[in-house]
Amino acid sequence: MALLPIIHYPDPRLHTKAKPVAKVDQRIQQLVENMAETMYAAPGIGLAATQVDVHERVITIDVSEEKNTLLVLINPEITARSGEQECEEGCLSVPGIFDVVKRSAQITVTALNQRGERFEFDADGILAVCVQHEVDHLDGRVFVEYLSLLKQNRIKTKLVKRARVTA
Ligand code: NI
Repeated sequence: MALLPIIHYPDPRLHTKAKPVAKVDQRIQQLVENMAETMYAAPGIGLAATQVDVHERVITIDVSEEKNTLLVLINPEITARSGEQECEEGCLSVPGIFDVVKRSAQITVTALNQRGERFEFDADGILAVCVQHEVDHLDGRVFVEYLSLLKQNRIKTKLVKRARVTA
């Protein structure tokens, strides 16, 4: 297992659209293990492969208190949506920035697990927010893009400055 470097907004690689995984093989299982380790170490509740510069449709999530319920989504699809909820979001690729985003309240998701088996589940609350946030990453979208242009520019300036200081 290995920790993977997380790329930070406004890195243009975050806007890459990820390709479907053709086969859930050992390479993908290794990626899932490394992503899970990276997510837990950060610590974060979700990570998309895009954030570690791998442009394939793989997500790891764990929204449990005890951090013992890993959810692996390969080639996820949100097949149904209903309602609306607003939740304050953050992102490992946008460190230190939190803001409210409006998303669907209930979703139905189908995906493959780390053994390549298809499964389906319904989600609401924080899990629904997290799945939508991570699927957005796979489509090249970062949560700050839902905010006003003024806020987006402020966040960009802040993060570019910080990167200069820490580089
Ligand atoms: Ni994120």
